[in-house]
Amino acid sequence: LLITKLEPGKIFFAKNAAPLIVAKDANGGIFFASSDAALIGVADEAAYLDDGAYGVAGTDEIKIFANGKDINLSFSKLAKDKSYAQKEGYKFFMEKEIYEQSAVVAETLMGRIKDGEVSLEKIDAQALEDVDEVIFCACGTSYHAALAASYFFERLAKIRAKVEIASEFRYREPLLNKNSLFIVISQSGETADTLEALKIAKNARLKTLAVCNVDNSSIVRLADATVLTRAGIEKGVASTKAFATQVVTLWMLALQIAQAKASISKEELKSEIAALLHVPQILNISKEPQERIRRLAKHYLHGHGFFFIGRDIFYPLALEGALKLKEISYLHAEGYPAGEMKHGPIALADERLFTIALMPQTVLYEKTKSNVEELAARDAYILAISPEEFELSDDFIKTSKQAHPMSEFFEMMIILQLFALEIAVRLGNDVDMPRNLAKSVTVE
Ligand code: AGP
Repeated sequence: LLITKLEPGKIFFAKNAAPLIVAKDANGGIFFASSDAALIGVADEAAYLDDGAYGVAGTDEIKIFANGKDINLSFSKLAKDKSYAQKEGYKFFMEKEIYEQSAVVAETLMGRIKDGEVSLEKIDAQALEDVDEVIFCACGTSYHAALAASYFFERLAKIRAKVEIASEFRYREPLLNKNSLFIVISQSGETADTLEALKIAKNARLKTLAVCNVDNSSIVRLADATVLTRAGIEKGVASTKAFATQVVTLWMLALQIAQAKASISKEELKSEIAALLHVPQILNISKEPQERIRRLAKHYLHGHGFFFIGRDIFYPLALEGALKLKEISYLHAEGYPAGEMKHGPIALADERLFTIALMPQTVLYEKTKSNVEELAARDAYILAISPEEFELSDDFIKTSKQAHPMSEFFEMMIILQLFALEIAVRLGNDVDMPRNLAKSVTVE
């Protein structure tokens, strides 16, 4: 994030691809930033420039042009709440954001479930009736949320779902079908690859939808419609609450389409909604799991790498767990489908290979167990995360028995986030500002 208060003199500027926001304060001060997160509490109102805009700003005036003509910027009020900028007793923003997840998910759900049905504002599920395929496109953690969403869309809404990594999609000359709904997922709304992929979909005349955390961001302004995830400002570079709210939002979206298409029964819808409403409770955790994970973390500082494994929706969660660990601990970690280990990676198994096994009780427990047993038989060091005792594990984190897979998903998600955090802290790393990473990747 860049923020500059102008000193006397003039500054010339132009907007092309990277985000640019102009803001003002009550005293005539003019500011420039790449995200409004940097402006909250500093400036009072902001205007979001489009590509091709350019101009000149003095200490108290600003002129903006596009295509050789003056344009009038429309400024909107910025929020005044700076509480996101404080750690509120936590050592790291990431840690604070992990514990905030219960409250922000409650916010994500707020007003969106009415009379036993999901009703996302601005989404007319009937209008999506001719959609015969959904293409999700995103990067990093948002890509993992997309992958989780593909399971909901096929299972609940009975719509074919494809998942694309934006940096691959934009150059592989994809064949696109006009009846596809193109859904981009982004915390920042400014990720260059995702934004470019969205432009490709728009040029191909697909219907587009953004699932995004930042209103007025470039992706939100370009997409035909947006569902905001309402995670609040996320400061930690390693995304936590943004991921939780993305998954919840996409789950709701799949359910809303399922309702409109009557592709799930009334009883199933009821149980899905009950599970959705239960998420804030699952995410409302005490400090006890973190204490326990802190003690375990010392076993994982050496070795030659980590495999996070899971099946079904626990596979995207395994990918996300591995990404969290890589980002802040700088240790090598891979997420893998548990059933795929025998097709190559099991060759790496020895006592210095750490396996983090997601073993939910509600999804393919016996299958996953047998995959983990194969690794244990090759002496891999196993951390099992499960409600079921697993006698072959070296370390074990017991989760609670749950009736719905997503309840297990969110319980395990927090464990993985805390696991990455505690290892990184023991290694003495800067958890909030990991090396080589930026919060918003506005270049390709
Ligand atoms: C998440 O921990 C990462 N920092 C990163 O992978 C991120 O999710 C990715 O860059 C996409 O960002 P976006 O959601 O803002 O588009």
